[in-house]
Amino acid sequence: MATTAPKSAESVRTLRTDAWWVQPLLTVLVLTGFIAYATYRTFENNFFLAELTWVNGAWQKSQMYLDGKVGHLLSPFYSPLFLVDWRVMGYYISPAILILPFPLSFRLTCYYYRKAYYRSFFGSPPACAVKGTTKKSYRGEQVFPFVIQNLHRYAFYAAFAFIFILSYDVILSMKYIDGWGISLGTLVLLLNVVLLAGYTFGCHSFRHLIGGKVNCYSCSLANKTKYGLWRKATFLNDRHALFAWTSLFGVAFADLYVRMVCSGVFADPVFVKF
Ligand code: FES
Repeated sequence: MATTAPKSAESVRTLRTDAWWVQPLLTVLVLTGFIAYATYRTFENNFFLAELTWVNGAWQKSQMYLDGKVGHLLSPFYSPLFLVDWRVMGYYISPAILILPFPLSFRLTCYYYRKAYYRSFFGSPPACAVKGTTKKSYRGEQVFPFVIQNLHRYAFYAAFAFIFILSYDVILSMKYIDGWGISLGTLVLLLNVVLLAGYTFGCHSFRHLIGGKVNCYSCSLANKTKYGLWRKATFLNDRHALFAWTSLFGVAFADLYVRMVCSGVFADPVFVKF
């Protein structure tokens, strides 16, 4: 009597019975949505600074700024502010194109995001104990293009600078034509900086930068200080995935908020003026 040989565990995609595919699917949906929104906003080249408005081919002070209803509220996608007047075949070049490569390279080369998009977009493998698409010729991050991932520490330096640039924007958002004030927009920009700082200072490269190459943490005051900083970075590093996602939503929300204020969808509520 003919018998069918049972499939070996290696030949089936997975023996897992849980919904392992939910996480990679969500990753694809969220990252694709963010990329689509960020691309649209990058090329929109408008509604990024509440203080200015684009009239007849030139930037002018907006009426809501002249009325003292908004401060220098700037979208993080367009920070630091460049008001360039470059045109290619009649189209203005968006200043966001000059800014985007820095935060983008930081996220694309992040160790956590690598795992997330290698799994979800490349299926390499899609989840633990699930057969992926890895080929025998796979050389990891030793050859082009993935060898570029090793530049992450340099992308970190740029991201580090952006924390201070965006913090300065929070202060500027409180500067009104007739004094100073705190609005909901200020708090939205502040939340964005806090989440980005949690993400940036939990970076594996930063953790190595401040705590690496030390043989004895207790041998000098400098090394004890390094140890203290390393512990704090480790606290954030343990929550790196959490900050990776919340900071992604935070920056998109901050931009969307500024866009809606600039385009007149709603007024930015001002809590105090001084
Ligand atoms: S490892 Fe994720 S930001 Fe550096």
